[in-house]
Amino acid sequence: MPEKSSHIPQHIAIIMDGNGRWARERGLPRREGHRAGAESVREAVETCKELGTKFLTLYAFSSENWSRPRAEVRALMSLLKDFLRRKTPEMHEQGVRLHAIGRLGDLPENCRAELTRSIEQTSSNTDLNLVLALSYGAREEIVDAARQLAREAVAGELDPESIDNAAFQQHLYTAGIPDPDLLIRTSGESRISNFLLWQISYAEIVITRKLWPDFKGVDLRQAAAEYARRHRRFGAI
Ligand code: IPE
Ligand code: IPE
Ligand code: MG
Repeated sequence: MPEKSSHIPQHIAIIMDGNGRWARERGLPRREGHRAGAESVREAVETCKELGTKFLTLYAFSSENWSRPRAEVRALMSLLKDFLRRKTPEMHEQGVRLHAIGRLGDLPENCRAELTRSIEQTSSNTDLNLVLALSYGAREEIVDAARQLAREAVAGELDPESIDNAAFQQHLYTAGIPDPDLLIRTSGESRISNFLLWQISYAEIVITRKLWPDFKGVDLRQAAAEYARRHRRFGAI
């Protein structure tokens, strides 16, 4: 039975890093690392459902990742498209609702079409919200929000004095999604890499040395257990 309490993170966000190193360790092309990484996604989804976590956000492709070699970008986009096509029926059966955040207009047309289809197909599900961050950059997100607020103010629809944290949050790509409670980064790197800068203000951070393709359900459970042991103070005592 899924266990539910305040010790269970309601929202887990993961920086899925280390696919390239996983492949290199095996003498395989980087693409194979990304392919293996896609398999870890299924396990993360299943484990979140078992834990009772309601939101899982996965950093799949950053604004900065566009600067990788063209062949790698192409491979990642094609894997994304295949993943959506192959896994959407299964996710739908599991009650998973898919969302996407980022500058989605930058994605190749065929990826975007597949993404829109998966989002529409799963839109009535409520068990787990899976949020894919694609062509995502936190600074870009904040700039987009500022631009939209400015537009509304200039149009006379918004009083600048009324802009507070809640109003700002409503203009982020993550409007309506609670902030992550737990942020996990795999592959041992201790950095945020332009991920959810606004939303992780008070997230608990767990960094694991496991490379993303090696990150299994048991590793996610371990991170959730570590989270449960933390004492979140939010500035109070
Ligand atoms: C994460 O793995 C996947 C993406 C960033 C798309 P990497 O490709 O960054 O793997 P490493 O960091 O080179 O090992
Ligand atoms: C962060 O990983 C982006 C994703 C996991 C999608 P990177 O591998 O791109 O980050 P850096 O370059 O090590 O900071
Ligand atoms: Mg990396």
